[in-house]
Amino acid sequence: MASLYRHIVIMGPPGSGKGTQSAVLTEKIGLYNISTGDLLRQVSAEDTPLGRDVKGLIDKGNFVPDETILKVMQEQLKKIPEEKGYILDGFPRTLPQAKALDEMMASQMPGRGLDLVLFLQVPDAYVIERIIGRSKCAHCGALYHERYKQPKVFGICDVCGHKEFERREDDTYETVLLRLQKYRKLTEPVIPYYEDKGLLVCIDGVGPIDVVAEKIRQVVGY
Ligand code: AP5
Ligand code: MG
Repeated sequence: MASLYRHIVIMGPPGSGKGTQSAVLTEKIGLYNISTGDLLRQVSAEDTPLGRDVKGLIDKGNFVPDETILKVMQEQLKKIPEEKGYILDGFPRTLPQAKALDEMMASQMPGRGLDLVLFLQVPDAYVIERIIGRSKCAHCGALYHERYKQPKVFGICDVCGHKEFERREDDTYETVLLRLQKYRKLTEPVIPYYEDKGLLVCIDGVGPIDVVAEKIRQVVGY
């Protein structure tokens, strides 16, 4: 069945499964995937003034300024092939970013504005456990969890076969608490913004990864 929705934002607290479910959708319906967290981690790995600034912010769980991320996104949106749908993971994360995204889409990509905002609902206790147990393949970035998503063969990435795994600097207990605070204060106000526009669909994000993926499949319609 052809997918009904192809212009998607995925929202939710840190560790709610945005990256995991974006990867599923990207694979199943071939969306163009933009994760601002992944983009910022690439920038933060560069030994440049911007890289050091970004690293200092994100490793401690602070957001980068809106104007910085908006410049990044303006360039990223241009890369989405016209014939493709897209999924935005981690953006917008503040109300000014959501409003700026509407303006950018109206001017840069008319007719290809958002048609769905998926909001993954997961209580704090679960997201803390998910984040503390997370690792990713150091080569391709595929996500794993020590309890909930182990590689099929121990120590070998399912996707690319490499054997090195790494953890994120911001995945400590203390930083997760700060990230949750920032989420409450700055990101939660975006939810009613999309609800008012009739774009928001809430998904219960508790339960095994494939069960959550199935709930999303039913909404997206692929
Ligand atoms: P970002 O990388 O987006 O971090 P986040 O929002 O905190 O979310 P995470 O990536 O930690 O979690 P996720 O929801 O993707 O969950 P995942 O699928 O990995 O951003 C990082 C930082 O960059 C921000 O803190 C901020 O500083 C900055 N930034 C980014 N965008 C910005 C913006 N727009 N403006 C300003 N600053 C910005 O899953 C987590 C774990 O759980 C994994 O191990 C996974 O295997 C497991 N898991 C997933 N689903 C399930 C399930 N259903 N059951 C059990 N385990 C599961
Ligand atoms: Mg993520």
